[in-house]
Amino acid sequence: MSAWWAAVLAILMPAAAAAAADHVTIDGAPRTKTVLDRHIFGQFSEQLGRGIEDGIWVGPDSRIPNIDGFRRDVVEGLKALHVSDIRWPGGCFADEYHWRDGIGPRDRRPVRTNTNWGDTTEDNAFGTQEFMRFTALVGADRYLAVNLGSASPSEGAEWLQYITAPHGSTLANERSTNGDPQPWTVSMIGIGNELWGCGGTMEAGYAADLTRRYATFLKVPDSMHALKIASGPYGDDTAWTETMMRHASDQIDGLSLHFYTMPKDWKHVAKSHATGFDQTDWTRVLSMAAQMDTVLSAQERVMDKYDPSRRVALIVDEWGTWYEPEPGTNPHWLFQQNTIRDALVASTTFDIFARHAARVRGANIAQMVNVLQALFLTDGATTIRTPTYWAFDLYKNDQGGSVLPTRVTTHRLTHGSWSIEALSASAVRGRDGVVRLALTNTDPEQSDAVDVSLSGLSERNVSGRILTGPAMDARNTAEHPDAVRPAPFESAVLSGNALQVTLPPRSVVMLELR
Ligand code: AHR
Repeated sequence: MSAWWAAVLAILMPAAAAAAADHVTIDGAPRTKTVLDRHIFGQFSEQLGRGIEDGIWVGPDSRIPNIDGFRRDVVEGLKALHVSDIRWPGGCFADEYHWRDGIGPRDRRPVRTNTNWGDTTEDNAFGTQEFMRFTALVGADRYLAVNLGSASPSEGAEWLQYITAPHGSTLANERSTNGDPQPWTVSMIGIGNELWGCGGTMEAGYAADLTRRYATFLKVPDSMHALKIASGPYGDDTAWTETMMRHASDQIDGLSLHFYTMPKDWKHVAKSHATGFDQTDWTRVLSMAAQMDTVLSAQERVMDKYDPSRRVALIVDEWGTWYEPEPGTNPHWLFQQNTIRDALVASTTFDIFARHAARVRGANIAQMVNVLQALFLTDGATTIRTPTYWAFDLYKNDQGGSVLPTRVTTHRLTHGSWSIEALSASAVRGRDGVVRLALTNTDPEQSDAVDVSLSGLSERNVSGRILTGPAMDARNTAEHPDAVRPAPFESAVLSGNALQVTLPPRSVVMLELR
């Protein structure tokens, strides 16, 4: 769009539409290079509710279109996102999982009770080889969460050998008999999950000792460069991090962190609803999501003390919105709707991860399909790509790029006792050389006129895509699967080193500068 036409539009726009003016400065030539690890865009999928059964796995005989039993539309959607990695089998499920339940002929696998998630039956149809084949189809790295809470180190060690050992050993032969002669690769090994809670209700010191012990035995071939990731804290619990870092940091490559967008005192205070909320609740959820920034800073301060060279990565392997379950669904299955508000939780969280990219080198949204902040919601043969899916789609080319430091000057929005910044931003020079600037307007009602100063950048052309919706809780449904979906955005004006953009209410805009 020309500057002249933009000026005409600005005059014609209703006064309320551009209520505020905010500013962003991008440093296009930073002195230190910080890579945005592609694993920041990872996924998490647990044996929980319809996350895997139905969501990923429908079986080869299903009438639902599938590739060897895996939902075709989910596989294709994930491939289109270039998903970096998938964490499995839990979550809490991981510390009760015994891998031998999920190998061999499916009709001979044991049926267990899923005690964490509603005492439903788990028939183990999706087991080790299904996970390996599924991730191969999608092209994603594998993040295995190994049982520490209720299994021996040798059980975990043998699982890893079964998966990765070359020909010749008894375990490799067993894998071959089960249909996969070639060894598989594993990129990340989780040493238990939430050891302070469902993973064993441990004290930090005891968990750190066990982590050292298990890390010694959980091995894959060196050529895989797999990261060993200890079970870390929840939110701003820095005491756990202190102990883990002091006692176990020399044995691990990463420390996990879990932090959900839900009230801290959720046992006593109602969670938000996924749809039908007002502006106060809109602000509450985005404000809770924004706390990720202070949580990461608090954890980094402790990690920096024990590991100033930042060898140990912080891996946020569970994050996302956690609402009251959808009425009429099994409350243990954590099924919830997904709206443009969730897309903004995702975009503002990606911006936070970019600011912390030097230490945060992995993250996995909870969870990929049909559970919590999902990218896909399925119903029978129907699969919906949620607004969160499209937020991942907007950011997918940031994977592995270099972070360009970004300073945001913005106003605050207050509703009830909640307050958020109106503008969130991040900038990355992609591996393809393109500079991508993400801008989110969190105001549900007002536009935001943003001036961007591009320092040290010589790009002269701008194009973009926008994700927004007609209402605060706009979502995709079977009838309207594309109600919230990226569209071209052509109203950014680049003149020299200045960029002018008016962001519509409740929107994420991804600009590409060439
Ligand atoms: O994602 C749901 C659950 O949340 C996971 O199983 C657990 O790790 C966390 O408490």
